[in-house]
Formats: sequence, C-alpha cells, structure tokens
Amino acid sequence: MQKDFISIADLSGDQIRGLIDRAIADKARFRSGKLPASLSGRTLAMIFEKPSLRTRVSFEVAMTHLGGHAIYLAPADIGMGSREPVIDVARVLGRMCDGVMARTFAHETVRQLALYSPVPVINALSDLLHPCQAMADLMTAQEHFETLDGKTLLFVGDGNNVARSLAVACAKVGMKFILACPDGYQLSEDFVASVRNEGAPDCCTITSDAKSAAAQSNILYTDTWVSMGQEDEKQQRIRDFENFKIDSELLAAAPDDAIVMHCLPAYRDLEITDDIFEAHAETIMNEAENRLHFQRTLLHTLIAGGGIG
Ligand code: CP
Ligand code: NVA
Repeated sequence: MQKDFISIADLSGDQIRGLIDRAIADKARFRSGKLPASLSGRTLAMIFEKPSLRTRVSFEVAMTHLGGHAIYLAPADIGMGSREPVIDVARVLGRMCDGVMARTFAHETVRQLALYSPVPVINALSDLLHPCQAMADLMTAQEHFETLDGKTLLFVGDGNNVARSLAVACAKVGMKFILACPDGYQLSEDFVASVRNEGAPDCCTITSDAKSAAAQSNILYTDTWVSMGQEDEKQQRIRDFENFKIDSELLAAAPDDAIVMHCLPAYRDLEITDDIFEAHAETIMNEAENRLHFQRTLLHTLIAGGGIG
C-alpha cells in the first residue's frame, strides 16, 4: 500500500489506470448524488508555499463533498523551515489531521513531509513535479478518447514540473510523450532514460520541431513558459519560447480530432493564442474540473481506504 502520493513514478501502470477508472466512476456517482460522505469528521491540512486557484479550491471542495474539512495554511502562518523544521510540522499535523496536502518550492520539502508524517501526504506541486495535474489530465483524455492506449501527447513548452509528471504517467499507461522545446529547456538525459525504462523505447522523445511532432499527436498540451519561482527569467524565457506556442498554424499540422489541453493558469498570446484557447475552452475547463474529481477519489483512497493498493 502506498501511504502517500508524491510522484507518479511510485505507482504502477495498473495503479494509475485503477485510480483514473475509479475517479471517472466516482464522478458519475457524485453527479447522481450517490457518493458516500466517506471522510466525515476527517481533516486535511493544506500547506501552500506558492499561490493557487485550482489546487486550493479543488482539494477544499473535495473534502466538503466527502463530509470532511480542510484547513488552508499560508506560508506566513506556519513558517515551515523557518519558524520550525519540516519534521516537526509533519509530526504535529499528523497528531491532529488525517491527511496533508503540500505545494512547495523544493521537492525535498514534500518528500520530507511524507517521510515524517504518520498520515498520508499529497504532492500538490513542487518545483520538480505536479502529479495531481497529470492524473486529472489523463483522466480528461480518457473520457474524451475512451482509451489512453497508443495515444500521443505533445507538450509544447518548458520541460517543467507538469511535463515531467505527464511524461512518466504517459509511459506507464502505454502512451507516447513528446516534448517540443527550445535548446536549454529539455528534460535531463537521466530523467528521459528513467521514463523510457517505464515504457517502450520511443515513449519519451524531445524535439525542436513542434510541427512535425504535432502531425503525429492526439493531444497538444501547453503550460506557462514561466513557472512560479522563475519570475526573474520572464523576459529571457518569452524570447526563447517565441516559436513554441500553440497557435492555429501548429494546430493545422495536427490530426483533425486532436484536442488542446492546458493545466492553467494560461497566458494568452504567449504559450497559447487567445483564439485557440477559446476554441478549446470546453476541454480545458473539463481538465480543470477533473482536478476536483480525481483528487476526491485520491483523498478517499488514501484517507478512508488506507492507501493506494
Ligand atoms: N493547475 C494548477 O495547479 O492550478 P493552480 O496553480 O491555480 O492551483
Ligand atoms: N509549471 C507551472 C504550473 C502551474 C500549475 C508552475 O509551476 O508554475
């Protein structure tokens, strides 16, 4: 049993598929009013070192749907690592709460929380990974295509936290992941090698030719060029990524039934043009909504179910 949800690399393909199938089934049960309040009287502590709209709201609403409660802890409130060490935060929260969700800069911080916490810890984005996002994304793709098998996801942009989590998730469920990015923003060779170990040798590739990659892709995905914490590099990144955006020219190179995805927040006319965003807003908003549905199933599995089996 997996106590925590820190990285998709910790899960098997069957566990990923199982969680996605369960989240899709729970979404239908929720909509028909038949999802039990399995976390009644339980509390989730939510630690945020960075801003958030979707993650904060979706976790808090998910706890409400399950009959539980969530507490928002802002960086200034708890001073994790400054007012007191991570190990003490983990142990104290473990004495009072039933689960912890953390959005951190250093990936090591969320890892340490999981190590010292007696209760489940969920990675709600670190500089390295964004596993909840990738799971909600694959859930959205599965709802759309009915299967993930053999599908190709093209990530146009930075080899960042979202890209890493998607790359691993795709490999584990039999999809292909392509990153189209400028020089200097690729995923590391070690990381790519570790992803290829999880799937077919061609399950993870990197290119600077976004158009050719689009021609063989079912999903065109993008994220901001400037992740939280990289604000000082904004002007340089805007120059570097100019030719790596989702626009009508790139979409024209893709198959007619390709879908466009974005984890949000989106910066119009930088990584995605306004017209393409609006034309695909329905899928993008389904993707945002699925953060709620996936995480509600994850919270139930970890807190009421005792872990990911
Ligand atoms: N996609 C996502 O994690 O959004 P927030 O940063 O608003 O939580
Ligand atoms: N890569 C982005 C994702 C935001 C949800 C960031 O880390 O800021």
